[in-house]
Amino acid sequence: MEQIEKVIDENKQGKALLTKQKNGNAKKLFIESYGCQMNMNDSEIVAAILAEEGFNTTSNMEEADLVLVNTCSIREKAETTVRNRLKKYNAIKKKVNPKMKVGVLGCMAERLKAKFLEEEKIVDLVVGPDAYRDLPNLVEEVEAGRDAVNVILSKEETYADVSPVRLNSNGVSAFVSITRGCDNMCTFCVVPFTRGRERSRDPKSILEEIQSMQEQNFKEITLLGQNVDSYLWYGGGLKKDFDKASEMAQATAVGFAQLMDMCATQFPKMRFRFSTSNPQDMTLDVIHIMAKHKNICKYIHLPIQSGSNTMLKAMNRLHTREEYLELIENIYKIIPEMNLSQDMITGFCGETEEDHQDTLDLMKKVKYSFGFMFAYSERPGTLAAKKMEDNVPLAIKKRRLQEVIDLQQQHSLYRAKQHVGKIQEVLIEGTSKKSDQHWKGRNTQNTVVVFPKENYKMGDFVNVKIEDCTTATLIGTPVGYSENN
Ligand code: SAH
Ligand code: F3S
Repeated sequence: MEQIEKVIDENKQGKALLTKQKNGNAKKLFIESYGCQMNMNDSEIVAAILAEEGFNTTSNMEEADLVLVNTCSIREKAETTVRNRLKKYNAIKKKVNPKMKVGVLGCMAERLKAKFLEEEKIVDLVVGPDAYRDLPNLVEEVEAGRDAVNVILSKEETYADVSPVRLNSNGVSAFVSITRGCDNMCTFCVVPFTRGRERSRDPKSILEEIQSMQEQNFKEITLLGQNVDSYLWYGGGLKKDFDKASEMAQATAVGFAQLMDMCATQFPKMRFRFSTSNPQDMTLDVIHIMAKHKNICKYIHLPIQSGSNTMLKAMNRLHTREEYLELIENIYKIIPEMNLSQDMITGFCGETEEDHQDTLDLMKKVKYSFGFMFAYSERPGTLAAKKMEDNVPLAIKKRRLQEVIDLQQQHSLYRAKQHVGKIQEVLIEGTSKKSDQHWKGRNTQNTVVVFPKENYKMGDFVNVKIEDCTTATLIGTPVGYSENN
């Protein structure tokens, strides 16, 4: 389990680097991100805002004027990781870089607010996810020797007009945020408190950003949101206020299926992915749009969290296991080659052995390609923390987690084997970790494919004959450029 958790952590964490520099900038910014892809993308927005304030990025904390950490609150462990990083910053500040200022961004900043300054002496600056535009003022305060905090959540902020500086980018695939916040209020989840209410970004600015990515030669875009299927643009404002909008605004509103259709039609050479889908908001018109466009990848991350109806209800996930299975059946009817992945939580409040068996049983029915699995971690302020007892002992949570992980491993292998013998289009994203003679990329179903480099280059779309596989990787031989190239 340790090993798998590590892999998950590595997948979900971005390292500190960035590359693009602005001429004439004298100050140095070191920024690192923990948690979800949205945080990675937010750090790119922050780098863009601070590039206008004289900061170029560095991968060496020892020379940084400003060190920012973009934090995650989703589980206790994520917060512990950040606290440990702050200790490391402290050591560096004391030993080699006394001038450096330290700021905390993201969900932990929002959750702890000014308390952060008391709890962690090293911290000079606390900025929540909707307040990054205020960074120039806040940094000025800090440079003048004062602590600065802004954690105000916004009804409007989507950073639509900020063009992110791509960090750690492979130059091939990138993220574009389409919504911010979440209205779902799953009882275990801290996100609605740290990221505020849900709002969508103007499709025009989304298309413009993709246009600029295309000009920079990017080949794959992942549209990001806590809950992308709930995307709704009606001229601005919160999703929950849609009812109050004018008739005209309601009639001309753009939903997620339409947005995908616009993106895929306008950029036929660009590959599109999206994440995350909440089953309660996913509709079949999205699946029809996916079927219509070859350049929308046939993969959906569709978390359910538990296979038990009792748990789903306690979690305030607004669908039953039967409805979920029916949705999947309908998805397969429209797109038989679709691959799905899950998030699961084991040991949520009151989870019995029977509930857990329901989870295993549901997994056996779906046979997901991948999974992100977690032991329940109580988060302060959530409804579960306030109203429910975190009563499953840690040892049992972990044992159940292990069972879920073991089963997922079997299913991942089962799904991987189904690709063997086929010729699949793969977008080259980098050199294989294990061999510098091999490229790695992903097929449309998001499975990693490794194959000999030959004369192909980064960013090429290549047809690869899949010959073998492990649980997580397909191994093949290239047979030529794909028609998309
Ligand atoms: N918006 C996504 C999830 C965002 S959080 C959705 O619709 O599902 C990413 C994952 O972290 C969740 O799917 C859940 O599996 C896990 N998670 C969230 N809160 C958690 C908690 N308190 N304990 C353990 N895992 C949690
Ligand atoms: Fe969290 Fe549920 Fe939203 S898991 S991010 S409250 S969909």
